[in-house]
Amino acid sequence: MTDIIDGRAVAEGIRSDLGESIETLKAEGVTPGLATVLMSDDPASETYVSMKQRDCEEVGINGIHIEIDPEAPAEELYDTIDDLNEDPDVHGILVQMPVPDHIDSQKVLRAIDAEKDADGFHPENVGMLVAGHPRFKPCTPHGVQKLLESAGVDPEGKDVVIVGRSNIVGKPLANLLIQKAEGGNATVTVCHSRTDDLPAKTREADVVVAACGVPELIDGSMLSEGVTVIDVGVNRVDVAEQSSAGSQTDSDESDNEKGYELVGDVDFESAKEKASAITPVPGGVGPMTRAMLLYNTVKAAGEQTGIDVELP
Ligand code: GUN
Repeated sequence: MTDIIDGRAVAEGIRSDLGESIETLKAEGVTPGLATVLMSDDPASETYVSMKQRDCEEVGINGIHIEIDPEAPAEELYDTIDDLNEDPDVHGILVQMPVPDHIDSQKVLRAIDAEKDADGFHPENVGMLVAGHPRFKPCTPHGVQKLLESAGVDPEGKDVVIVGRSNIVGKPLANLLIQKAEGGNATVTVCHSRTDDLPAKTREADVVVAACGVPELIDGSMLSEGVTVIDVGVNRVDVAEQSSAGSQTDSDESDNEKGYELVGDVDFESAKEKASAITPVPGGVGPMTRAMLLYNTVKAAGEQTGIDVELP
């Protein structure tokens, strides 16, 4: 029997534990605050940010949402970030990526106070992660680590193949999983679009993490028996283009009425035949990314106020 890893349930457990940490902070007069900044009219980005704000409300984090006209000059974004950096009620700041082309995203990441960097994307925080002393673990990689733990898969000594080398997932996840620490100690191979013979690499893996943004790239023929498969992909696929075989429909996050559905980077049906454990899309990694953002916000609030909070 293949274990279908239920990211919604694991995320709910983390949110519930975080609720207790938030109570501890509130008892000391501190309400954790997360500011989200959206400078885009991309519908997917709008949806992600509104879900993050809804999560804040549900767990008792003070969510502050700021929208900036995508055509506005860069200064407007930097001034907003400066104000949030100075605001003692804001403990975490997130600028939703991607930003418009006239904005330098690296400069944006550096403008955020590293101690409020709830994404863990500031170069100082990237450096701390690579050095083995993470301050904020980036949310998706941290969520993947928690999902492996929940499925009883200890990465120690295992061959992990990550397909995708992004700054948001592939690179930080590789760094997390090679750490000499609990939840790490794996042997990690990072594959990407220029990798020769990708199937030969993925077939050698005990754990495959698909994070390349190519719908259903990884199928069962590329996997060995008993593998654990973590699918980070969230691809909006036109329903009209999508054949019914091999697609997943999990109605409460996909939206057929809008003419698209969400599929991962893994062909779920064929991969499930090989895997001992696999995450679905939606309902796998996505809810974990959001839960770990709340985690980083609570951690930031504790550190900025000197209040000891237990974290799940
Ligand atoms: N865009 C897609 N994923 C993310 C994320 O994790 N953080 C931010 N800030 N933007 C994103």
